[in-house]
Amino acid sequence: MSTTVPGLSPAELQRAARDHLWLHFTRMSGYTDGEVPIIVRGDGCYLEDTNGKRYLDALAGLFAVNIGYGFGEEMAEAAAAQMRELPFYTNWSYAHPRAIELAAEVASLAPGDLNRVFFCSGGSEAVESAWKLARQYYAARGERRWKAVARRIAYHGTTMGALSINGIASLRTPFEPLVPDVIHVRNTNRYHRPAEETEAEFTAFLLEDLDSAIEQAGPETVAMVIMEPVQNAGGSFMPPEGYWAGVREICDRYGILLCADEVITGFGRVGGWFASERYDIRPDLITSAKGLSSAHAAIGAVIARDAVMEPFLHDASMYMHGITFGGHPVQAAIALKNIEIMRRERIVEHVNAEQDAFRSTLAQLLDLPIVGDLRGTGFFYALELVKDKETRETFSEEECETLLRGFLSPRLFEAGLICRADDRGDPVVQISPPLVAEQAQFDEITGILGDTLAAAWEQMQR
Ligand SMILES: Cc1ncc(COP(=O)(O)O)c(C=O)c1O
Repeated sequence: MSTTVPGLSPAELQRAARDHLWLHFTRMSGYTDGEVPIIVRGDGCYLEDTNGKRYLDALAGLFAVNIGYGFGEEMAEAAAAQMRELPFYTNWSYAHPRAIELAAEVASLAPGDLNRVFFCSGGSEAVESAWKLARQYYAARGERRWKAVARRIAYHGTTMGALSINGIASLRTPFEPLVPDVIHVRNTNRYHRPAEETEAEFTAFLLEDLDSAIEQAGPETVAMVIMEPVQNAGGSFMPPEGYWAGVREICDRYGILLCADEVITGFGRVGGWFASERYDIRPDLITSAKGLSSAHAAIGAVIARDAVMEPFLHDASMYMHGITFGGHPVQAAIALKNIEIMRRERIVEHVNAEQDAFRSTLAQLLDLPIVGDLRGTGFFYALELVKDKETRETFSEEECETLLRGFLSPRLFEAGLICRADDRGDPVVQISPPLVAEQAQFDEITGILGDTLAAAWEQMQR
């Protein structure tokens, strides 16, 4: 039976959701009896469901709604104006004003000579496009390089190329064989390193690992090193001092393109329009999505240095890649409006000004026995949960199931806080609210997390 009537009642929506809607990365069995949470509206940092229950969205709709939920009217006007003028045309051989304006705007915000912008529909497509671009860049120069280097536990998307790049084995395994070849190297998780190791030693250790992995793979076969400036999966792994300069140097030594995956970190999340600027990464490519439109549109981009485009500027050469919706004029108009709002509301400045207050508020949670570490920067934090703070012993897989999915996720949901309890690496709670969050939200997040994590600790002692 199909239910096609618009304006369904909450009960009808529930039924239609269960009957028809296939949720992403979701154990659908959980909704055989339980209610599907149905979000109907948002304002600022808050969301409301069909039952009128409010949630503080401390995950910004998957690290994406950077301006929060309060600018819908303005965005709708921009979208409607574009719909009236030109609802769609492609970027395949043609251009239109909004894609051009957005490309110029993004190029002006991106660091250095990252001037060339290729649009796509989201983060996975951006990563996919970057890898294809890197492969073809070398082919255009008469070299055959195809391999990518990424880090363990890192998430880079779900399309086959991007999925292959992921460093999370459980995501990859069901879809093997994957796209050849990806080499996974160490990430910058310092929490479980020896206590006596200095930061400089840690950096040297990581760079040695990267260097030897490339050596072993055959440097002349490696097209791209792709890494997030601050790694999300595993819980906001920060780069140690000297790390990015070292990665850049290794890429230069072997002539490998360096791609900063800024799908999360771009557009203000860690302060600065791009984290590449903040950490002086000097990438050849940046992948971007989410914050580019604050998730008000399905748009992503690969931003490339002039030098990467150079081999494609001659004779019959072309980047043999395209996506119907890449650079869609309505999506581009929305992204332009997002950037305008971010500038006007001084969102990036707000993150820079408030990040210390946010961090020190969250740091109160370090008093709890279950919270081993707080890491991150900007509006991008993670709390690592431990069984024993002294030894930093982590929870077993079975304990994580009880702790995260059995207890924390439902409790936080009940308490009206959306954040992520995650164990793709060691168990962490990820906190990444809209960039308009203020002290009131920092306090609310910390208060709810404090109560819930204290209860979780009690539960785990039983
Ligand atoms: C760093 C990074 N790259 C790529 C992606 C994939 O983006 P999307 O879900 O838009 O395909 C994500 C998504 O979370 C991400 O965090």
